[in-house]
Amino acid sequence: MGKTFAVIGDPIDHSLSPNIHSAAFRELNLDCSYIAYRIPKDELGDGVEGLKKIKIDGFNVTIPHKVEMMKYLDKIDESCSLIGAVNTVVNNDGVLKGYNTDMDGFLEPLKKRNIDISNSNVLLLGAGGAARAIIAGFAKEKAKSITIANRTIEKADNLVEFAKKISLDANAITIDEIGESAKNYNIIVNATSIGLQKEPSPISLEGIDEKTVVYDIVYMPMNTDFLKKAKEKNAIIIFGYEMLLGQAARAFEIWHGMEAPYNAMKKALLGGF
Ligand SMILES: NC(=O)c1ccc[n+]([C@@H]2O[C@H](COP(=O)([O-])OP(=O)(O)OC[C@H]3O[C@@H](n4cnc5c(N)ncnc54)[C@H](OP(=O)(O)O)[C@@H]3O)[C@@H](O)[C@H]2O)c1
Repeated sequence: MGKTFAVIGDPIDHSLSPNIHSAAFRELNLDCSYIAYRIPKDELGDGVEGLKKIKIDGFNVTIPHKVEMMKYLDKIDESCSLIGAVNTVVNNDGVLKGYNTDMDGFLEPLKKRNIDISNSNVLLLGAGGAARAIIAGFAKEKAKSITIANRTIEKADNLVEFAKKISLDANAITIDEIGESAKNYNIIVNATSIGLQKEPSPISLEGIDEKTVVYDIVYMPMNTDFLKKAKEKNAIIIFGYEMLLGQAARAFEIWHGMEAPYNAMKKALLGGF
């Protein structure tokens, strides 16, 4: 019998995940389907019950449910408990197990480029849910230090505590305090939502060079002003869609137990822009 998968969130109608996973099913001739299912913020419990009733085989979780969903899991993978948020769920006869593939999805494009994370000083913009998975990733790869810059300093302070707990040297500043200091970092990541509305780059990239890695996790639009400014400096740039693809490929592998057809998934994703 065919298997059914979903992505839950709100809003969900612009999600690219159905396209990406459906392309993988087609490529491998899998008898599976993947749907987008809108669950409003206060209706997660009922929504999850509904998914169990239709015997969903697995689902992705996105804004605003990534943290709240932890409550409804029966089993929790290590990635998930470390980050405190879930983005991938496996349903095994009504037993829900949660994973977080954002961390590995984030790291994958860095590894593909053989970037030496362990000797890097990192500047991370943002202190939301995605930033947390990214910090866990830099801790796992033993980055030298991370500066967490956020509009709301209290949230950056909280993530500094989190980073230190998992043995990553960290400090917090506001985005305004960055000034002209971008050039002091090896890897600069935008994990705020700045760019989604085509806003100008949140910081000055003056002084960075062709060795600086500039990574924007915002994937829509693909070419944010932040990445355009980095390109002008000939920096090594990484697109948000690469993380999106990385987390989807990892989720695919968890659900299907086989290697994800990365190129078919990438083609489907880029066709969606
Ligand atoms: N490529 C991928 O696979 C992937 C995966 C996950 C997320 N994302 C993208 O990453 C972004 C963040 O996601 P999230 O889940 O971490 O969201 P979140 O938890 O809501 O965090 C949003 C972050 O953006 C900051 N921010 C928002 N508007 C701002 C503004 N006008 N000026 C300065 N800072 C602002 C917030 O700062 P405050 O704390 O001060 O509010 C906070 O740090 C989203 O655009 C999302 O689409 C991409």
